[in-house]
Amino acid sequence: MASTEGMQAYEEDNLLSLPKQKGWAVQHLYLFQHFWCPSTHIQGVINFQKHFQAKDSDVIVASFPKSGTTWLKALTFAILNRQRFSSSHNHPLLTSNSHELVPSLDFIFHGDNIHDKLSHLSNMTEPRVFGTHLPFPSLPKSIKESSCKIVYICRNPFDTFVSFWIFANKINPHSLHQLTMEEALENFCKGIVGFGPIWDNMLGYWKESIATPNKVLFLKYEELKEEANFYLKRVAEFLDCPFTEEEESNGVTENIIKLCSFEIMKNLEVNKSGTFSRNMEKKYLFRKGEIGDWVNYFSPAMKEKLSKIIEEKLSGSGLSFETCL
Ligand code: A3P
Repeated sequence: MASTEGMQAYEEDNLLSLPKQKGWAVQHLYLFQHFWCPSTHIQGVINFQKHFQAKDSDVIVASFPKSGTTWLKALTFAILNRQRFSSSHNHPLLTSNSHELVPSLDFIFHGDNIHDKLSHLSNMTEPRVFGTHLPFPSLPKSIKESSCKIVYICRNPFDTFVSFWIFANKINPHSLHQLTMEEALENFCKGIVGFGPIWDNMLGYWKESIATPNKVLFLKYEELKEEANFYLKRVAEFLDCPFTEEEESNGVTENIIKLCSFEIMKNLEVNKSGTFSRNMEKKYLFRKGEIGDWVNYFSPAMKEKLSKIIEEKLSGSGLSFETCL
């Protein structure tokens, strides 16, 4: 496995040995460590696995893409920093996108200057909060073996698919590699989607959350949306910083929910323009933020196709999604 520091992309020779398929707005996805990944991400992932040293106080926001990552990063940051930024007027979430405050470990280690990046990370205010889309088995040892905590979010695969397909087309509107919705669904059902198969990604964290409930908290977008107050408190308890009765009666939980709400975040100047991560427009992170929008895109045949595969893949796991029934 290649590991030269500063290497921009995974070496051609190594790529040749990986199974490859047509990508979503990228030319190809490669099957790397049992998940599908664009070639441009692979070296960054290897560097992350090799160099990142988790601290016991770290919090990792893990997710399948398009499942509510931006939202959960904001909520987690706000929960952990509520004493530092108690006034809603000067909160960093009003002037920075949550991906800027909670960096994605899958992308940080791309490119040169690994040591500068590591030294920046080690100087971050604790508790540090990071994001990742990597499946659980691919996380670095230090995340698994330290006492750091992982909060995972997923979403019903129907809405995740629609959100993913629209996002992929928006971020790269002139790409020669766009898929039609039917082609994209075909690939999605075969598991071929960035950081997929989606069921493997979800089930990896689902099983860990059952085996080690103090290490991994498993959330669903739909439940968070429907019972934000309950799950906000659940996350705070899990992170060993439960809200006090006084905080609750002072409206601290409600203020955090409001600050991180879709309507507020979507309409912030900081989120209306500019880019994040790899030149992706921040405004595309906020589309509808609804449960069940998939019904506006799926034909009965598409619904049957995805329902069947979900039933098959999740059967016996105890994990299910209401909208898929
Ligand atoms: P839709 O495309 O269905 O609208 P991710 O952050 O993982 O990329 O997920 C993006 C999805 O989360 C998008 O879904 C987006 O609109 C929605 N989203 C973004 N911010 C949100 C928020 N604060 N509350 C609820 N949903 C949000």
